[in-house]
Amino acid sequence: MLPLVSALALLGVATASAIDKAAALSECLSAAQVPVDAADSADYKLDASPYNLRLAYTPISIVVPTTPKHVQDAVACAAKIGVKTNAKCGGHSYGSFGLGGEDGHLVIELDRYNQVVLDNVTGIARVQGGARLGHVASELWDQGKRALSHGTCPGVGVGGHVVHGGYGVSSHTKGLALDWLIGATVVLANSTIVNCSESENADLFWAIRGAGSSMGVVTEFRFDTFPAPETLTYYVAALKWGTAERMMAGFKIVQEFAQDMPKELNMRLFMTPRFINLEGLYYGDKASFKAIFDPLVAKTNATVQLTQQGGWLDQIKHFGGGLSLDQGHPYDFHETFNSASLYTNALNETQISNFANYWFQYAKSNKRDWYVHIDVHGGKNSAVSSKAADSTAYAHRDYLFMYLFYDRVDKGVFPASGFSHVQNYVQNITDGLSSSQWGRYLNYPDPSLNQATAQEDYFGSNLAKLKSIKKAVDPQDLFYYPQGIQA
Ligand SMILES: Cc1cc2nc3c(=O)[nH]c(=O)nc-3n(C[C@H](O)[C@H](O)[C@H](O)COP(=O)(O)OP(=O)(O)OC[C@H]3O[C@@H](n4cnc5c(N)ncnc54)[C@H](O)[C@@H]3O)c2cc1C
Ligand SMILES: *[C@@H]1O[C@H](CO)[C@@H](O)[C@H](O)[C@H]1NC(C)=O
Ligand SMILES: *[C@@H]1O[C@H](CO)[C@@H](O)[C@H](O)[C@H]1NC(C)=O
Ligand SMILES: *[C@@H]1O[C@H](CO)[C@@H](O)[C@H](O)[C@H]1NC(C)=O
Ligand SMILES: *[C@@H]1O[C@H](CO)[C@@H](O)[C@H](O)[C@H]1NC(C)=O
Ligand SMILES: *[C@@H]1O[C@H](CO)[C@@H](O)[C@H](O)[C@H]1NC(C)=O
Ligand SMILES: *[C@@H]1O[C@H](CO)[C@@H](O)[C@H](O)[C@H]1NC(C)=O
Repeated sequence: MLPLVSALALLGVATASAIDKAAALSECLSAAQVPVDAADSADYKLDASPYNLRLAYTPISIVVPTTPKHVQDAVACAAKIGVKTNAKCGGHSYGSFGLGGEDGHLVIELDRYNQVVLDNVTGIARVQGGARLGHVASELWDQGKRALSHGTCPGVGVGGHVVHGGYGVSSHTKGLALDWLIGATVVLANSTIVNCSESENADLFWAIRGAGSSMGVVTEFRFDTFPAPETLTYYVAALKWGTAERMMAGFKIVQEFAQDMPKELNMRLFMTPRFINLEGLYYGDKASFKAIFDPLVAKTNATVQLTQQGGWLDQIKHFGGGLSLDQGHPYDFHETFNSASLYTNALNETQISNFANYWFQYAKSNKRDWYVHIDVHGGKNSAVSSKAADSTAYAHRDYLFMYLFYDRVDKGVFPASGFSHVQNYVQNITDGLSSSQWGRYLNYPDPSLNQATAQEDYFGSNLAKLKSIKKAVDPQDLFYYPQGIQA
């Protein structure tokens, strides 16, 4: 070790204690035979490079486990040496939390540990902790024509997606990804491996369904699945909201429809400076879709651009953004962006007017490539809202709308002056609301929030219970990251 230590010290790249830690960690991992990405290897570069290029961090080391024992040994080494550690699955965190959200963490890169095994008699799927959504979807289909409810991007990891929620174009009908979880195997901070379910370590099971990233490393997810529907209809309809008045009138109509739209319909407003669309997926054929949707089209003066009947994989490919479905390693897509999220109930007159005024007075002058998604998350017939808000750690089930504000540059650096775009948008909508009247989603984080605010906004009334579970399973905060749960 000495030559390495003195070479780094000469370069002045790190403090003596950081170098000691790196050396001790490397020795511990090597003694336990945990696979590690060699520094400067192609794999190291790929695994260390964040989805969001704005938030790049340097890990102390990256391990690439291929067994649960490797994960246990890596966690034991991190605890012994006093290094924070985090699981990384698909690496799609908007805040680079799989890399620790700061320099110096041990990254447990799971994306080579991605097997999916479906029991096509029980319909239960065992999914290793590093699989990506597209791989899961294609395996469930190939092994038994089964399906899960989850988000749209095939490269997103099941790991981060499920431990924080997992909202997609099936969620109004079929709930969140985490609603299909019936059990999990978790490596805890003291490096023991445990199973959890409704009947075994039930508190841990509750906590990993919403705040799992703070509780341990999930090595295996066990999901119930549903038979992939044979007949679905996906659609796009364009709205012409050219003035604040039009937007306000149109928004009111859409909102009224959203509150009690049928369970089988999934819908979002996809708003950019170039277009404003209603998009989504209907569980049923084109004729029954039209019977439900045509009245809304008539009221809003929308122009229907696509109504396509198809099977399960057709819609997954349609919403998958042109990527091939079965994503694994290597995966090398990146963007440079800032984000924020919001959940609200139906907006009142003032809030709709604030929303529209912000759009026309401020947002439209932003020449970056930004958008807003407003998903119909809750409402009278939503599968997400049909469960109690305290049934899992995912706290914000009751809200009608889930918003994603996404602001990106196509090349170069995101400008310092750009952060206010999404932050002010959120504040213009929540102005006057008390903190119990809105929330935020950890899978669409605002990386600028401080830790105390982040925990409250993401977890609301479930935070107290999460803190007590965190204290029991990770009292030293081994799985720390800048917006994680603190005991
Ligand atoms: C292009 C794109 C599209 C998206 N679309 C959707 C969408 O439609 N719906 C939606 O809800 N979200 C969507 N998201 C957000 C996505 O759900 C989150 O970014 C999610 O956390 C990513 O998970 P990951 O495993 O890829 O990320 P990572 O960065 O690897 O991990 C994210 C967090 O989860 C933790 N984690 C990862 N694996 C595990 C594990 N096995 N055990 C414990 N903790 C773990 C990490 O430590 C980190 O804190 C999208 C993101 C992108 C970039
Ligand atoms: C179920 O799994 C068995 C064994 O792998 C396989 O032979 C069979 O074709 C599968 N059934 C379906 C419906 O895919
Ligand atoms: C967890 O449950 C799985 C599936 O039932 C089983 O194969 C595994 O041995 C269990 N692991 C532990 C640590 O109990
Ligand atoms: C739809 O178009 C009609 C006729 O032009 C107009 O009167 C009405 O205000 C429009 N409604 C909306 C919500 O745009
Ligand atoms: C609304 O947005 C404007 C423009 O960005 C900003 O000046 C104002 O402070 C925001 N309002 C609130 C309540 O945050
Ligand atoms: C809408 O709600 C906000 C926040 O509670 C409040 O300040 C405002 O007065 C309400 N406006 C109307 C028209 O009810
Ligand atoms: C590890 O932590 C869990 C959760 O706190 C605890 O139940 C278990 O007893 C601990 N195991 C050991 C070996 O300390």
